[in-house]
Amino acid sequence: MSEATLRKETADGWAMFEEDTTEELKHGICVSNLAYSVGKQLGLYEDQCHELAVAGILHDVGKLRVSSYLYGRNEDTLNIEEMKYVRMHPRLGYETLIRYDFSDEILETILYHHENYDGSGYPENLTGERIPMGARILRVCDTYAALISDRPYRRAFDKDTAIELMIEEVKNFDMRVFLAFQTVIHDEELQEKWALRDFRIGIAELE
Ligand SMILES: [Fe+2]
Repeated sequence: MSEATLRKETADGWAMFEEDTTEELKHGICVSNLAYSVGKQLGLYEDQCHELAVAGILHDVGKLRVSSYLYGRNEDTLNIEEMKYVRMHPRLGYETLIRYDFSDEILETILYHHENYDGSGYPENLTGERIPMGARILRVCDTYAALISDRPYRRAFDKDTAIELMIEEVKNFDMRVFLAFQTVIHDEELQEKWALRDFRIGIAELE
């Protein structure tokens, strides 16, 4: 597949663009695979880890509904109006997916994937253990996956720099999750051991 394009579906206004979404799909796959491995490392049950993998793929689906503000941008700054739309995407994703047969755990993981452990996140400024575990795991994996990817306004950071940048923002993360994540990242054998073979999608398949 050289390109992934989502087309307009007007009934509820949920896909308002015709853009190449290959990078977004790659990001979702990366977050999905990482979240599954971190869940395993934390000792979660297989079905919980599988739900993390599903949430990882779908976590930014709400961006499809604010796409005209988010796609094709070349700047790294957002104005206040644009920021307002960006901050709506977890709830928009939740509202889109609640109409389908996803578990409460998957829906809550998506709704709260931008909550920070210190309460500075959105949409509800939840703190600490009030943030569902799945969302705390996605928060870490999503941040890392974004840092190691090229963006229109910057090149990808290498693995060590990405970790350093995350340590500077460690207030955002559940420390137990962050430590499990670091163990996974630094141990390729562990990543292989936790590979979700019947679900895992290779990024190469998109290229
Ligand atoms: Fe997001």
